[in-house]
Amino acid sequence: MEKDYTSRLNKIDDLPAMPKTLYDVLNKLNSDDTNASTLDHIIEEDPALTTKILKIANSPYYGQAGTVNNIKRAIMLLGFNEIKNLVIGFSLSDIFNSGLECGPIDSKIMWLHSVGVGKVAQSISHRLKIGDPDDFFTGGLIHDIGLIIMCHHFKNETLEIFRLVEEKNISFPDAEEMYGLKHTEIGAFLAKKWALSDFMTNIIRYHHKPTSAGEFISFASVLFLANELCDKTGLGLNYDESGKKLLVPKSLHVNVEFVKELVDMIKEEKKTIEENWGNMLLV
Ligand SMILES: [Fe+2]
Ligand SMILES: [Fe+2]
Repeated sequence: MEKDYTSRLNKIDDLPAMPKTLYDVLNKLNSDDTNASTLDHIIEEDPALTTKILKIANSPYYGQAGTVNNIKRAIMLLGFNEIKNLVIGFSLSDIFNSGLECGPIDSKIMWLHSVGVGKVAQSISHRLKIGDPDDFFTGGLIHDIGLIIMCHHFKNETLEIFRLVEEKNISFPDAEEMYGLKHTEIGAFLAKKWALSDFMTNIIRYHHKPTSAGEFISFASVLFLANELCDKTGLGLNYDESGKKLLVPKSLHVNVEFVKELVDMIKEEKKTIEENWGNMLLV
């Protein structure tokens, strides 16, 4: 990233702060004594979050209409991991719900793309036994956070990059490279500011270029593939329409069958993700 952008970033005093709930979930739930009551306490400290989780838990999607009256029951019925995912999702939804309008993207498109990448990365991690699937869900949710910052604080430059995508028929990351401003670098800048783990910082920085990720190559490759699959299946944001075929990182050592299974999974879950998680921004 150009030096003057770094200094401009340093001067922006309304960059989003790390949501307290996300901080609690990442710190308290990643220790070995993680249990349902830790999660229960984190949620109940925040009445607005409690209301949101109960509303979602009682939605038709989970088939529990009117029967979930407290967080303990929600965890029992929906499962620890699903509630944890919802908590992480809600903790970030305000950042996404910030009136984003920038070229072809808006808040909802960005949100669905991020949830989609999170879900797909979680599944790839689980299937290939690479890293912790839950960390990949969180990583997917925040992998493009730099793009949100770009849209808010470098809007003219971002629109110019979208114009280059159209004019030169190139991918968004290639246009960024040409222009000299990258959402991956801005995202990594924020990840450092939030004191996120090296895992998070590196998958954010290298999710479009995993071969440069050094020891984080397989983690960044999982995010890269999840991002490619969501772009190509039209789940949320679809800014890479350059007609190039799907790229699968060699470092993952997967075959065509594996990729086909993932595509089928996305097609099956697409409607659910769009309806259930899409509505979270409105709750
Ligand atoms: Fe990206
Ligand atoms: Fe992305």
